Amino acid sequence: MPTVAVTRIIPEAALGPLRAAAEVRLWEDDLPPSPAELAALLRGCDGALTMVTDRIDAALLDAAPSLRVIGTFAVGYDNIDVAAATARGVAICNTPGVLTEATADAAFSLLLAAARRIPEGIAYVRDGEWRAWRPMILLGRDIHAATLGIVGLGRIGRAVARRAHGFEMRVLYHGRERQPDAERDLGVEYAPLDELLVASNFVSLHCPLTPATRGLIGAREFGIMRPDAILINAARGPVVDTAALVVALRDGQIGGAALDVTDPEPLPADHPLIGLPNAIVVPHTASSTVATRDRMADLAARNILAVLGGTPPPALVNPEVLTAR
Ligand code: DGY
Repeated sequence: MPTVAVTRIIPEAALGPLRAAAEVRLWEDDLPPSPAELAALLRGCDGALTMVTDRIDAALLDAAPSLRVIGTFAVGYDNIDVAAATARGVAICNTPGVLTEATADAAFSLLLAAARRIPEGIAYVRDGEWRAWRPMILLGRDIHAATLGIVGLGRIGRAVARRAHGFEMRVLYHGRERQPDAERDLGVEYAPLDELLVASNFVSLHCPLTPATRGLIGAREFGIMRPDAILINAARGPVVDTAALVVALRDGQIGGAALDVTDPEPLPADHPLIGLPNAIVVPHTASSTVATRDRMADLAARNILAVLGGTPPPALVNPEVLTAR
């Protein structure tokens, strides 16, 4: 029987099938393993089901030379050195598709919450401030008919665009290339990044974290955004320059931010972003629904078991490893 490490407690949809076909080494702590603990956990394993919090680099792969597959419990895999894995013949799998709608729901929820100042309203009521109806409190921003700029029109970006359509928003998008099918089917309009930033009431980030997108939104970009613009980030924290974001929010260069992801992650409780009234921060939970986490677990397990069983996995990031085998 192969041995598979699982680096956190995840739904039975993964643990059940894995236990039926492999010896499972489960990291049961609530907090992630340290790099040394991760190396110890993976040593001698044939497969590993890992999280976004696990850094998979050449040193770790060298410490676990029996690994044949790593299945991440995520669609994003910027925490994994894919080239190093490919060079060592380790298949890298992820969970695309199954979390698209939940993540788009979450991004749109953040947009709505920030535009209509929902967290501030909740705090206002909880703090006993609601003593009369007041015509001039908690004035928010219109969502209906506003312009939404989507950066990264992949699966999740497109799902956000579909939601925006229901609010009769104008949707601009920016990405590596134009997508005529999306322009036709979703009514979205391509714009160079700067034009999108200048024109959008809401800017929602859905690009992967790559060398090209690291720090994509920084001081210069905040400088050209509308003073009432709201930034939504459900992609990866480092796509935004955090220090520049704090300044932009504090100095009113933009109107607000609603973040599912941050840099660093987790954000320390005393981080300036958390104290800003125009920032909403949630703890990287965009795909966190019961059904979605089950689907991610199921797909992650199927990926690993397929590779260990010698068949092509449903979601393989580095197909070259299989052709090389
Ligand atoms: C992903 O899938 O990449 C998320 O960030 C974790 O759910």
